This record gives sequence, C-alpha cells and structure tokens, in this order.
Amino acid sequence: MNKTIIVSNRLPLQVSIQDNSFKVVPSVGGLATGMKSVHAEGNGIWIGWSGIPENDLRPELSDEIDSKIRDEKCVSVPLTNEDIEEYYEGFSNRALWPLFHYFMEYSNFEQKEWEAYKRVNEKFAEVVIDNLEDGDTVWVHDYQLLLLPQLIKDRKPNTTIGFFLHIPFPSYEIFRTFPWREEILTGMLGADLLGFHTYDYERHFLSSVKRIMRLEVQFNEISYHDRIIKVDSFPMGIDYDKFHNAALEHDNDSEEKSDLRKRLEEHISEDKKLILSIDRMDYTKGIPNRIKAFEYFLDNYPEYKEKVRLVMLAVPSRSNVPQYQKLKRETDELVGRINGKFATVSWTPIWYFYRSMPFNNLIDLYTSSDVALITPIRDGMNLVAKEYVATRTKGNGVLILSEMAGASKEMNEALLINPNSYEDFANSLKRALTMPLEEQQTRIKFLQKRLKRYDVEKWADEFLKSLEDTKNSKNENVTK
Ligand code: ADP
Ligand code: G6P
Repeated sequence: MNKTIIVSNRLPLQVSIQDNSFKVVPSVGGLATGMKSVHAEGNGIWIGWSGIPENDLRPELSDEIDSKIRDEKCVSVPLTNEDIEEYYEGFSNRALWPLFHYFMEYSNFEQKEWEAYKRVNEKFAEVVIDNLEDGDTVWVHDYQLLLLPQLIKDRKPNTTIGFFLHIPFPSYEIFRTFPWREEILTGMLGADLLGFHTYDYERHFLSSVKRIMRLEVQFNEISYHDRIIKVDSFPMGIDYDKFHNAALEHDNDSEEKSDLRKRLEEHISEDKKLILSIDRMDYTKGIPNRIKAFEYFLDNYPEYKEKVRLVMLAVPSRSNVPQYQKLKRETDELVGRINGKFATVSWTPIWYFYRSMPFNNLIDLYTSSDVALITPIRDGMNLVAKEYVATRTKGNGVLILSEMAGASKEMNEALLINPNSYEDFANSLKRALTMPLEEQQTRIKFLQKRLKRYDVEKWADEFLKSLEDTKNSKNENVTK
C-alpha cells in the first residue's frame, strides 16, 4: 500500500538524555502540534530530527530510543552538534527565520552556514530515499528544508512531492535581499504542489518566482522545464474536537482539579478578569510590545488595577540563538519592572511562566481566561488563537488578535489590532473587558463554526487531494 512520508526538521516527539536514561516529550510549535493528529490517523511515516545531537547518543541507549521513535511511526535523521549549530541555530534560525518574518536587521548570512544547510538537506534526502517506495507521496514541511523537494526530484523524478511553508513568505523586496535566493527557489520548485497559509504569502512567492527566476506564471501555475507546478493557499486548522472535548471534560466538576486550575480559580470572580497570552519565546511574537502595551493600559485605565491580571506563558525556544537570549533578558526585566511599578500586597499584574506545560494545564489556562491576547509582530498562522476559541465551551471569552498573524485572515470576529499601536491595544482590551456576554457568544459561535468545519484533518485532506490531482494530471500528460 502506498504511503505518505511527512518530512520536517523536528519530529512530533522530542528526546532528551538525562543521566543514564532518556525522556520523550511532545514537541511544541504549530507544525508539530498540527501535523501530529494528521500523522496519527494516516498510514505513513514521519522523518525528522529527534532533538538530540548524534554526539550525545550513547550506544547503550540508542537502540531503545530508536525503537521508541519507530513505535511512533517516525524515523530520525541524525544531526551532529555541528549540524545543529550551523544548519539549525545558524542558517535556519539566524538567516531564514528572521528574514521571512521581516526582521531584516536580525538576519545574518554566513557562507559556512549556507554550506551546512545544503549538507543537512542532503542528509534528509538520503533518509527519505532510503524509506521511499514506488508510488509513495512525500510531503515536506517548512523553512528548514527548502532545498529538499528538488533533491528528491533529482533522484526520484516520478515521486509526487508536496511542500508546505508554515511561516510567511516575505514580499519580493525582502526576499530579493537574500544571497542564495535563486538556489532557495530552485529547491522549492522540486515540489509538484506548494502550499502557503494565506493568499498573500502565495502571491509573494509567485512574484519572486516571476522576477527572480523569470519563469512563466499563469494564475497559480508555474511552468518549469517540462513540469507544471501548482501553488495554492491552505490555511492550517487545529484538531478542533481534541481541544473542545478536553474543555468539556474540564467543565465536568467531577474531574480532579490541577493545582494550576485551583490557583487560577481563586482569581476569577465577577469583577476580576484573567487575560491570557501563550507563545514560544520568540521575538516575532511581540512579547515585549505586549507587556509595554499592558503598562500603557494600566496607566490609562487605572480603574482596572487589581481587577485584571495578565497570565503570560512563554515556552523556551531556540535558547542558543543570541536574539532569543536577548529577548528572554528583556522580557524578564520588563515583567519585573511592571510588576514592581503596579503590584500591591494582594495583586501582581503579570503572572509569568517561562516553561513548557502539559496539555491539561494548557486547557486550564485556555478555559480560565476571559480574554486571550495574541499579538505577534509577524506570524505565519498562529494556532494558539484557534485553540483558545475551540475551548470556549460556554461561548464566552474575547480573542484579541494581531492583524499580522495569518490567522487574522479567517478570524474577523476577533478584535483585530495593530500590535505596534499601544492605543489600539489598550482600547481593544477595554472593549474586550466590557463586551456584553451576548456579543461575546455571537463572535465565538461564528469563529467556532469555521474552525470546526475547516479543522486540521480537512486542511491535510485538501492539500493531499490537490497533490493527488497534480499527480493525475501529470500522468495524463505523459500518456497523451
Ligand atoms: P508557533 O508554531 O510559532 O510556535 P503556533 O501558535 O502556531 O506558533 O503554535 C504553537 C503550538 O504550541 C500550539 O499548538 C500550542 O498549543 C503549543 N504550545 C504552546 N505553548 C505550549 C506549552 N507551554 N506547552 C505545550 N504546548 C504548547
Ligand atoms: C514554528 C516553525 C516550526 C518549528 C516550531 C518550533 O512553528 O514553523 O518549523 O518546529 O516553530 O521551533 P523549533 O525550532 O523548536 O523546532
């Protein structure tokens, strides 16, 4: 039976070595959390990195780790310390990530890291080829593997290859500054179907293909050598039922309450509100901006002192990359300053957690919060915004969402804001805190309907169906 091979830099599980044993935890991030349910349902395999450097892998543990990974229908690509430093922390997260998120000043282009990027994409290609059988479909994900589609196409030209980018594709004016722009586009064009979260990213990509590669583009099809490549937008959804049902169970009072939930409940009352933000600790997420805007809000609406609390969960991410270390220091300092400025003996305005949390605690946070503040400076999609909405089983709650998140394109009933405007921010927060229950419920109901209909399974089905169609039209052309 033919299978679908998912390939991404990170596997949905992350392994870490502790003394003489190892620990496996779920990976954080939209790609892993979203694709996990798609993978669990299907008959395919997932190829990616397990999160540990090959150099740390002790022979006595490696068989056990491999078998654990295999049990999850995954295959690991071994990366050395050097690969991680140069390809992952380096080229992927110091060159591509900032540039694609419009943080040009953070982008650092090093020839040595580009060489590592090519080398590691080759490593992935080898593992894919080793696991590939005739008739299989390969679905490559994200910016760490932009060269992989063409590497596979070169070796196995008949393989049907899909590619999905989970982050924004920047405008031509930004992308053209990239030193290896042609090589990157050539790598991507190895795919038969290229998917993006929004129509804007798709348009930006097509514009770069036309202007940099000088290729003919008709509507959303690119003619390249003797192939037609299709480009389309597929806004990624979430596993709606998983979040909604977990919240329903949570509503059931017979469930034993977690300590976190008990603590949160102590702070919920008619006139006291919890405001939630959840992100990876990443400069694209606008964390310092959000804290400063919250300060602006408390300065301008002092009647909310002691009445609101910002619960801010930041998950450690890419902590070896200097910009992330700087952001962590800045966030710690800002939280300290604002708490110091406003706190009273009975109230701390910001509750700040810098850690990962198990799923049931995430549900505790989502279900306990009156307002979600999701305000990235730039974000490919943002699944947290969708997860918050899915857990609002009683229909109350307000989502404040940045216009710069891909999710804003499908979530018009949220309060959309420009995250750079403190005024917009503060006014929307005031509006959210005073919004009549009926209006909250109407907005949430519309949002939920859409999220339920277009969930992650539907998203994957549509992508794979469209990929299948490109395969069929390819075959038709061959037989004509
Ligand atoms: P990104 O992909 O940039 O990290 P998204 O908002 O699209 O941003 O996805 C983040 C994903 O990570 C969500 O599915 C969310 O549930 C998950 N997540 C966020 N914080 C935590 C946490 N503390 N523990 C576990 N999972 C988390
Ligand atoms: C974003 C990226 C993913 C990445 C995730 C977590 O969602 O699009 O490709 O896996 O962040 O980042 P990390 O560097 O820890 O894999």
